[in-house]
This record gives sequence, structure tokens and C-alpha cells, in this order.
Amino acid sequence: MTMRYPVDGGGGRKSVFPAWAGPAERLRFLLPYAILAPSRHNAQPWLFEIEGPELRLYGDWRRALRVADPQGRELVIACGAALYNLQVAALHYGHATSVEILAGSRKDGLLARLTLEERRPPTPQDEQLFAAIGVRRTNRFAFDAREVPFGLISALVREAADQGGCLRVVDRTVRPAVAELVAEGDRQQWASARFRSELATWSRSNQASETDGLPGYANGLSDSASVLHRVLVRLRRGLSAEERRDRHYALNTRALLTLCSHNDTPAAWFVAGQSMQRVLLRAAANGLSASFFSQAVEVAPVRARLREALGELGFPQVLFRLGFGRPLRPTPRRPIELVLRSMSTGAQPQAIVLPMAAAKP
Ligand SMILES: Cc1cc2nc3c(=O)[nH]c(=O)nc-3n(C[C@H](O)[C@H](O)[C@H](O)COP(=O)(O)O)c2cc1C
Repeated sequence: MTMRYPVDGGGGRKSVFPAWAGPAERLRFLLPYAILAPSRHNAQPWLFEIEGPELRLYGDWRRALRVADPQGRELVIACGAALYNLQVAALHYGHATSVEILAGSRKDGLLARLTLEERRPPTPQDEQLFAAIGVRRTNRFAFDAREVPFGLISALVREAADQGGCLRVVDRTVRPAVAELVAEGDRQQWASARFRSELATWSRSNQASETDGLPGYANGLSDSASVLHRVLVRLRRGLSAEERRDRHYALNTRALLTLCSHNDTPAAWFVAGQSMQRVLLRAAANGLSASFFSQAVEVAPVRARLREALGELGFPQVLFRLGFGRPLRPTPRRPIELVLRSMSTGAQPQAIVLPMAAAKP
């Protein structure tokens, strides 16, 4: 499966940044970087609108995961991550950005507005983040035995804080409890036919022509197994291979981390997404990959117990492991034309409304 657009996240993208053009054209140029952000089930739940000097980012509620993510929390996190990629790409091409976060305050699903600011040369740190955009991957395979350097973890904690999130290392002493909660989340989700049906809807065969969803190869499935996977996911219930694998990873991984926020509001989710992406990019720049344990934050009672187990006063938004893994094929992304609302017709795609007003903080 190949990307349908040229992007490199550092090298290979041949077109030249249109520095001489108006801001709308410059913003348009940056979109291929935004959409390389991670999103649950690779749903890519974002829509962009560019008008004059302003880029507007909407959540695409049609792509929400109504079972796994009924509040749209992870949808907003993914959008925060996409905007952060765009901010990093803007820095690489010589622009600071200013961002206004509107998540939760608008009925039309508008999450944030961004404008390009004055030109300034990128720092080496900016360049490191930029180079990581195209190489960052979610890695669900076993990591090797190397420790994640302590200095790097400390740097990630600092950078998460700079971006408004609190990154915490899950201490060895609470690992068994957290691993059990991960397994409990798996059990509860896999026991739900609605959850399995939603997962099947976003599962793709290795040869699929779709440019969204999760291809089987991302979970190590052969071409033939990836075809069967959709059917099997719907049929399976109760104890799963996932549960055993996730418990093992959570218990034994070198670095288990949680990204928390002080509030549990849409604006806090958006900031958590930006912060998460900064951590993932910096980690990728240092050769690390991540994989997620969202079951423990998606199932509300399990999330409450996770918070307790961690002694966390804030709200866990993302639970993930970091480590050194083998190189992976990228997952697909939808073409830019499908995520850019056309201002000329105003019709493509439709206005999307998130039910975030109903979200319980
Ligand atoms: C908020 C969030 C939660 C996620 N949770 C999980 C998860 O629980 N399990 C998983 O395998 N992948 C999870 N993912 C990873 C996505 O499946 C992945 O980002 C997507 O397939 C795109 O692949 P990529 O990250 O390699 O670009 C999550 C991603 C995000 C942003």
C-alpha cells in the first residue's frame, strides 16, 4: 500500500515551499504533513478549511468511533496531533504559527484556527521534529531489549509540559495493576459485539484500496489472514490474543507512559493531542516507536481505576509504551482533496458537528 501523495517528513518531497505565494497557498502546502498524524483505527477524523491567512481545523464526526470513543475524546486528540504536525512543518519552512483552540466552544465542530506568523529560521530541535513526521509509526510488535535512555525520558517529560501536557512514567511498582487494567479493558471491549463490529469496519486487508483504516500488516497479518481478519473480529468474543499480548507488553515493556491533562474537556483533549504528538515525534527522532493501550482509557470504569492506580490527580488521556522496534510499512492516508473543505463551493464535505457539548468533564 502506498501513500497517495508525495511527502517525506524530511527528505524526498520534491515540491518547493511557495514562500512567494499568499498564505492560503503556503498553508495548503503544509497539509500533507498534518495528515500523517496518528488517529485511533487510522480513522483520520479531521477536516481543514483555508481562507486567506487562516486555516481552520474541524473534527469530522462522520469518522468518529461511536463505540470506542463515544465522547469524541480521541477524535479531538488526533486533531490536536494533526495540527501539531502542521505547526512543526511550518517551523521547518520558516514560519512560527499562532493557534487559537476553540474545541468545545463551537457548535459547528471547529476545533482550532491557525495563522502563519513572521518568518524565522528553524532551530535544530525544530528540524529534528520535522524529520520525524514521516518516519513516526505505531509499532505493535515486540521491542528489543534496549533501555530507553533516562535522559531522553526526562526530555520527553519536559517537552510534553512545554506543550501543555503532563507525561508520567508508569512506575514498576504499579505495572502489574496497570497491566491488569489493560487486560480488563480488552476483555470488556472484546465482549461487546458493537465494539468488534466497529473495529471490523475499520480493519483492512493488506491489498485494500481504501486510504484509511488499519491494514492487517500493521498487526503482523499475512495477506490472506488480513482478508479473513474482518470476519473473525466480528465473530470473536471474550478472551483474545490481544488481551494476552497487551498485558504482556504493559507489564514488560521498558518504558510505559501516560499522558495526562488537568481537565477532561475538549480543549484539554486538543492540547493533549498536540503534546502527545510532540512526544511521539521527539521519540521517533531518537529511533523510538510507540504503541497504545487505549482500552484502559476508553472504558470509563477502567479509566477511573487507572487514575486511582496511578495516583493521578489529572485525567489519563493516552497510555502508551516506547521502545526500539523494527522498521515498519506506513499506514495509508486519504488524499488531501478529501480533507480540505472547498471554500469555493462551501459544500465539500458537509459541516460536521461534534456532540462534545454532551461530553462529561
Ligand atoms: C488517541 C489514539 C489512540 C490510539 N489507540 C490505539 C490502540 O489502543 N491500539 C492500537 O493498536 N493503536 C492505537 N492507535 C494508533 C493508531 O491505530 C494509528 O495511529 C493509526 O493506525 C495510524 O498508524 P500510524 O500511527 O503508524 O501512522 C491510537 C492512536 C491515537 C492517536
